[in-house]
Amino acid sequence: MTPHAASAEILRLCQMAPVIPVLTIDDATHAAALARALVAGGLPVLEVTLRTPAALDAIRAMARVPGAWVGAGTVIIPDDAAAACNAGARFAVSPGATDRLLDACEGIDLPLLPGAATASEAMRLAERGYSAQKFFPAEPSGGVSALKAMGAPLPQIRFCPTGGITMQNAPDYLGLANVACVGGSWVAPSDAIAALDWNRIETLAHSAAALPRRAPEPGV
Ligand code: 3PG
Repeated sequence: MTPHAASAEILRLCQMAPVIPVLTIDDATHAAALARALVAGGLPVLEVTLRTPAALDAIRAMARVPGAWVGAGTVIIPDDAAAACNAGARFAVSPGATDRLLDACEGIDLPLLPGAATASEAMRLAERGYSAQKFFPAEPSGGVSALKAMGAPLPQIRFCPTGGITMQNAPDYLGLANVACVGGSWVAPSDAIAALDWNRIETLAHSAAALPRRAPEPGV
């Protein structure tokens, strides 16, 4: 898969909802129920971080939930990409990018949303063909004003900012012309997951799914 095709697929997923939930799952037993709640709330695209031993089993379980489009986050090395793909992940997200990881994802046809936090990182990825990038960590890296400033010289790059996004600041990000969608863990708080409080998570998802966003400018 070419970087161009990967970014096209990622941008298609970003169109499905304004927010991609970032999920860190300790127990795969309830992963399907979590996915059902988020899908019912209007958030079909789900990122499961590879930070826990349960992550791959969670991806396997969630990938079978009707309407869910499940990917892996915190994909750092080629082995992560291969394991995620084998578990049924349909896309991958990385906090940064290395040539080895880009090569691996391209080689196994796993669409990757690679991370960038500076103009040079974003330019390097764009040079390779990645027009969709994760802006990470969004808030510590300057937040809305940094992303807006990056949009002036680099309008061709569309970002999914992640890291410190909340229901409160999400509208400011989603109002930027170079933001395709945002990612965040706030829609599935760990205490709600631990309490198996799927109603609360579905309600949070509903609110997130209703966030307005700016239509992309022609040619962007
Ligand atoms: C992460 O890497 O954990 C994601 O960027 C989510 O960040 P958040 O918990 O601040 O939403």
